[in-house]
Amino acid sequence: MQALSTDRVIIIGAGLGALYAALALAPHPVLMISPDPLGEGASSAWAQGGVAAAMAQHDSAAAHAADTIRAGAGTVDPRVAAAVTAEARRHILDLTDLGTPFDRTAEGGYVLSREAAHSVARVVRVKGDQAGAEIMRALALQVRATPSIQVMEGVLASALLRAGGRVTGVELMRAATGASEPVRLSGPAVLLAGGGSGGLFEVTTNPPRICGQAIGLAARAGAVIRDAEFVQFHPTAIDVGHDPAPLATEALRGEGAVLRNAAGTRFMTGVHPDAELAPRDVVARAVFAEWQAGRRPVLDTREVLGAAILDSFPAVAQACLSAGVDPVRQPIPVAAAAHYHIGGAETDAAGGASLPGLWVCGEAASTGLHGANRLASNGLLEALVYARRCAGAIAAGLAPPAVSEEVVLPDLAPAPAPDPALVARLRRAMTAGAGVIRTAEALRRTLAEIAALEAAQPDCAPFANMTATATLIVAGALLREESRGAHFRSDFPQAAGETGQSSRLTLVEALEIRARAVRAPA
Ligand code: SIN
Repeated sequence: MQALSTDRVIIIGAGLGALYAALALAPHPVLMISPDPLGEGASSAWAQGGVAAAMAQHDSAAAHAADTIRAGAGTVDPRVAAAVTAEARRHILDLTDLGTPFDRTAEGGYVLSREAAHSVARVVRVKGDQAGAEIMRALALQVRATPSIQVMEGVLASALLRAGGRVTGVELMRAATGASEPVRLSGPAVLLAGGGSGGLFEVTTNPPRICGQAIGLAARAGAVIRDAEFVQFHPTAIDVGHDPAPLATEALRGEGAVLRNAAGTRFMTGVHPDAELAPRDVVARAVFAEWQAGRRPVLDTREVLGAAILDSFPAVAQACLSAGVDPVRQPIPVAAAAHYHIGGAETDAAGGASLPGLWVCGEAASTGLHGANRLASNGLLEALVYARRCAGAIAAGLAPPAVSEEVVLPDLAPAPAPDPALVARLRRAMTAGAGVIRTAEALRRTLAEIAALEAAQPDCAPFANMTATATLIVAGALLREESRGAHFRSDFPQAAGETGQSSRLTLVEALEIRARAVRAPA
């Protein structure tokens, strides 16, 4: 295997955290590694709602923090919630300066959407449901124009390199199929910003590439993974048989859209006093229950939006129309779908992981902000805040910026692709055993299935990253014998107390749990 070294900070990923950190590091030289063209294939670009920030006069960071803590079901770190929400305004202003065309009022204020579990309208948006795409477009333009940032597309990270307990670089492959000979690239710091793990589940709103790769990289290098079991399911993925499932943003419910079942009953009013704007886990379980009972849940926007949905929520309208659903005249069929991985590599206040030399931001990280149930549109906010903190901490350890040689890779052979049949089985097993409703028996069965699948393709690093993350999710879910936020166990339906503990697992520990499940499957 060839070995190269660079004085550039290595950023793995090309989503919001990656782009924002690269810009914040300038003029320090950076190498961004992305399997897809910049800005494509990242969950951030698909985010519809926007960024939560207390921008209204009658709102405050303290109120935003209180909502974050309340939604998080007893495991949010209040110091993190206070600090992140206090920084939110600054980042909205900076994104505006960087060219994001946020929706503005006639008076020049920000148009704010209401989303579930927020006590006020607080989500800064672009053209209704285009926030992710437009923020990413603006940042990608800035990144392309910044000479200190080298963007390497079509390349994927298959493993992290370690020496003396420190992360020292990354093993790289071409992002295509076939036999492979990776290259080892070492650098002064590695920032992992490669997204979550929705694609480990059969029904997901995440882009296809987002399937546990980043968390798997950290876990296989030995990093501590916190709260892996907390996977957030979105209640209103558009259920038209597409993979991934398009999203119908929560902002539609903020506008007054209602959920009904096939009998026309508005079922959320009987479930929670906040009805459709109840915390996301509550709505997701109710939608899942209707769906499982064959009562086909739908999101009805007709009365509240009518034809306005076409201009106000163009991405949702387009997704419906292209699947033969006319949202002006028909209710939108919906299902619960894996949407956001709350857990991830444990990070400190500067974004540092448990392994020196490694920083993590965005969905791959667990900062303590989201607790057991992320408040809507706090995901992009967290990515912004921690991307900048990671950049600051990394820069503090670098020599003064200097012009750097571009990294030129040898002609890499392509990476081996995970076997699609094994991936399909993994996704089925995760949805069946570790989905919206979990039991010990199903979780043990799922661990045994993951072990069997891993053994069926042992030499494929991208698949190993997926099965590592899947193992951590399921092992964490098995250990957590309670229901809390996004994690629901029908065999332990209550929370074990008002406040809960975060879980912390290394991959070695999770594999021991898996080995026990294989020896004694359900
Ligand atoms: C949505 O727009 O419904 C999703 C927002 C989020 O997941 O934060």
